[in-house]
Amino acid sequence: MIEQTLSTEAFRRDVLTGLGQTPKMLPCKYLYDEAGSELFDQICDLDEYYLTRTELAIMQEHAGSIAQQIDRDVMLVEYGSGSSVKTQILLDALVDPVAYVPVDISEEHLLRTAERLRSQYPKMEVLPVVADFTQPFALPQPASPYSHVALYFPGSTIGNFTQDQASHILRSMSRLLQRGSGLLIGIDLQKDVGAILRAYDDGQGVTARFSLNLLNRINQELEADFDLSRFEHSAVYNDRQHRVEISIVSRRDQVVTIGAEEISFAREEPILTEYSHKYTVDGFARLAEPHGFQMHRYWTDDAQQFALLHLVLGEEMQ
Ligand code: AVJ
Repeated sequence: MIEQTLSTEAFRRDVLTGLGQTPKMLPCKYLYDEAGSELFDQICDLDEYYLTRTELAIMQEHAGSIAQQIDRDVMLVEYGSGSSVKTQILLDALVDPVAYVPVDISEEHLLRTAERLRSQYPKMEVLPVVADFTQPFALPQPASPYSHVALYFPGSTIGNFTQDQASHILRSMSRLLQRGSGLLIGIDLQKDVGAILRAYDDGQGVTARFSLNLLNRINQELEADFDLSRFEHSAVYNDRQHRVEISIVSRRDQVVTIGAEEISFAREEPILTEYSHKYTVDGFARLAEPHGFQMHRYWTDDAQQFALLHLVLGEEMQ
């Protein structure tokens, strides 16, 4: 109950802060309420959205060599939900994993996943951590001895962060890991801009509904009166920064009420909701290198749309 009130207050604060800025923005983590998560699952099934399907295919094809790189008797830490099929492919391929530590901010979802995995993998400890992985947190101590920690960060979620933020996350990862430990990370690769944009502005308008659902959430949770028909979804590729910039654009001059606050929008004014950065394998390796990570191996699909990188924390740096 208290937690509910606190998180609603945090949401209100973040929304009002973001909409008070110029240009206006809203943090992308709020896209994933119940309805938003449902819409994101629909995005993953779209023909245009190649990311999920491609990453899954890479995992399926290379599970054996990926598991070999990570090595046996591991404590596997995953950033994000950890309920996906990708995780299970990895767990099935690993030799005697000692513990699995999913780290997520959504407690309910996390505990449900943990329960399911416990019954599926009775020999492995499942130790969920409710935390925001962009902030420092401590790893749990498994009851059984393990040989090393490996970190799994799938889904190209790192792409939502700016290079500075990504760099910060890589630094905190390096502090969490021991020398010789690995990071298995999924990144979406730079490619034909048309193909990227179709993935973020699909023909059926699912991504548009996913985006605009954020206004719905604000209406419901913060007593606001956004008229969704007066806003539209926009996805633009920024060539210089190699990222999709996703915004909700006001179709006209208008004033919206959020609780006791009034927010004015000019016609064509955007609210930035999400970045999705696209990398090259080398570019990402260069981003990780200052934090002690060395690229050991990577796996990609034939069309080189997506890549899974295995970076290992070096001996001399850190
Ligand atoms: C969840 C970060 C992988 O950037 O492709 C998909 C989110 N937003 N369509 C992405 C997203 C709009 C997605 N990630």
